[in-house]
Amino acid sequence: RTVYVNGDYLPEDQATVSIFDRGFLMADGVYEVVSVLDGKLLDFEGHLVRLKRSLNELAMDNPLSDDDYLAAFRGLVERNALADGLVYLQVTRGNPGDRDFAYPAAGTRPTVVMFTQAKPGLADNPAAQTGWRVISIEDQRWSRRDIKTVQLLYPSMAKMEAKAQGVDDAWMVEDGVVTEGTSNNAYIVRNGAIVTRALSNDILHGITRAAVLRFAAEAQMQVEERSFTIAEAQAADEAFITSASAFVMPVVEIDGAAIGTGQVGPVARRLREIYLEESR
Ligand code: PDD
Repeated sequence: RTVYVNGDYLPEDQATVSIFDRGFLMADGVYEVVSVLDGKLLDFEGHLVRLKRSLNELAMDNPLSDDDYLAAFRGLVERNALADGLVYLQVTRGNPGDRDFAYPAAGTRPTVVMFTQAKPGLADNPAAQTGWRVISIEDQRWSRRDIKTVQLLYPSMAKMEAKAQGVDDAWMVEDGVVTEGTSNNAYIVRNGAIVTRALSNDILHGITRAAVLRFAAEAQMQVEERSFTIAEAQAADEAFITSASAFVMPVVEIDGAAIGTGQVGPVARRLREIYLEESR
């Protein structure tokens, strides 16, 4: 692969970042994941807006212009002849030259890293036909989940717990209600209405979520932005998740209980179709 580091395109084995980089030592960095289908970036604008918000919330300098980000994303898609897959972008507070809790003095240049991940047939993922099975797990992340930081250890632990139990993902629960999946937003469908947690600092403001809710409204589907419990999800007609990499993915089982018929439902199927049609 050809990757991007601080303005340079390099072979991946020649791309390096300092051991003093605050992204490495402090998880002091933010990221974005953008899907690519047939060489086209999906929802690029939305991801860029969220990146800038994450940087701003952490008082981190934005090292590139919007045009620079777009040119680098396109440059990587082209150099890697990427048809279907992802572009990953990470910005950290950079390398102050030593370890220190305090942020470095102004002038320390943020580190910018980007790379592609090829996922042939990403839009035809067979899992979308059968749906995911998930478990519930306590949400033990910090309380600023609206900032897309690279502190992904707890979501990784939750994913490993799901794998250990032979299922696909975990839905995190706080104060008795679902926050979100390990790397996706969570939804249920009840009596034709799409239910998903309202935006706050408790969840990531998904770019796919925003698009799907907009398409749902345009299709005259009812949307309720409110919290729900695992028990309500288990008794729902359908469930699904959204993310840049999974698009709309049906969920057919929670903690061993089948949801609805236990098969992929019509609302999740339709939203996936609409999202893929409208976004690509
Ligand atoms: N994850 N919630 C969390 C905790 C996430 O990490 C993500 C994205 C989402 C969905 O956001 P979006 O629709 O903008 O992708 C929700 C990315 C895909 C990842 O970590 O790979």
